[in-house]
Amino acid sequence: MPRKHVLAATDLTPAELLQIFKRAESFKRGEAFVPPLTGRILASIFYEPSTRTRFSFESAMLRLGGQCISTENADMFSSIVKGESLEDAARVMSGYADIIVFRHKENGSARKAATAAEVPVINGGDGTNEHPTQAYLDLFTIWEATRGRFESNEVRILFFGDNLHSRTVNSLARLLATHAKQVGIKVLQASFTGTSDFGKPQSKTIDDLTRSGIEVDTWEQDAPQDFNVVYVTRSQKERHSENGGEILVFAPGPELRSDAIILHPLPRNEELPVALDADHRAWYFRQANNGLYVRMALLEFLLK
Ligand code: CP
Repeated sequence: MPRKHVLAATDLTPAELLQIFKRAESFKRGEAFVPPLTGRILASIFYEPSTRTRFSFESAMLRLGGQCISTENADMFSSIVKGESLEDAARVMSGYADIIVFRHKENGSARKAATAAEVPVINGGDGTNEHPTQAYLDLFTIWEATRGRFESNEVRILFFGDNLHSRTVNSLARLLATHAKQVGIKVLQASFTGTSDFGKPQSKTIDDLTRSGIEVDTWEQDAPQDFNVVYVTRSQKERHSENGGEILVFAPGPELRSDAIILHPLPRNEELPVALDADHRAWYFRQANNGLYVRMALLEFLLK
């Protein structure tokens, strides 16, 4: 089987993504399976902190019968400290593992590692660029909502927060533009918060959405909330070259639809008050949990 990297959200075709969603759904339902990855090894190499991405990938691999080797602070605990290049590290790790999950603060770093790797590389987040597997679990969660919670498969989404620096917004917006329709989700509108300093996303994100025929606009806080998906992100302070950036706090207005779902890639800060957790529209912990099943399905797809 040819090697397949997942460096950008669009590296899987819509048909492949739908296949992964259906398999993830089966894992989530607890349907029995023979562990397909016994004897296979996942290496997680993280140069940036992570709770969800690293642990859910490792848990997914263990549940599939495989094993994991891992460094959580590769900037400190790998030979990068001694001047080793990402390419050399990836090449060497290819001899020790069957698949690599890689996170780094620089845009394009996962692609750089993949050029030298001899096994599949999954981008676990590179700078402000992409976080493809987060987008897969985000779209999977929206897909779940279209299969019972929403009255139709139509989606009007509000991106609320630091859309400019958020790789999860980039990757999800790209998938909404290119893959949503083929997995059965009709995206009518994508709005971005206009009142925050960093609410406007990167221009390529707007271009992708506009090209696909999705209505793109700016939403002012306190304007009516006719959305059924709200995607909140924290202020990505570690990526700000500018000082500050206003922190907005998400508070659903009375008009926010009762069938809406509130998503957040997590971790959260003050933009998403804990008091919201009791709201039946708060789906962000369900979303994080979906990461396990989607990553199980992805690892099986790439390795089996
Ligand atoms: N959503 C996400 O990528 O979380 P972590 O940074 O904890 O992996």
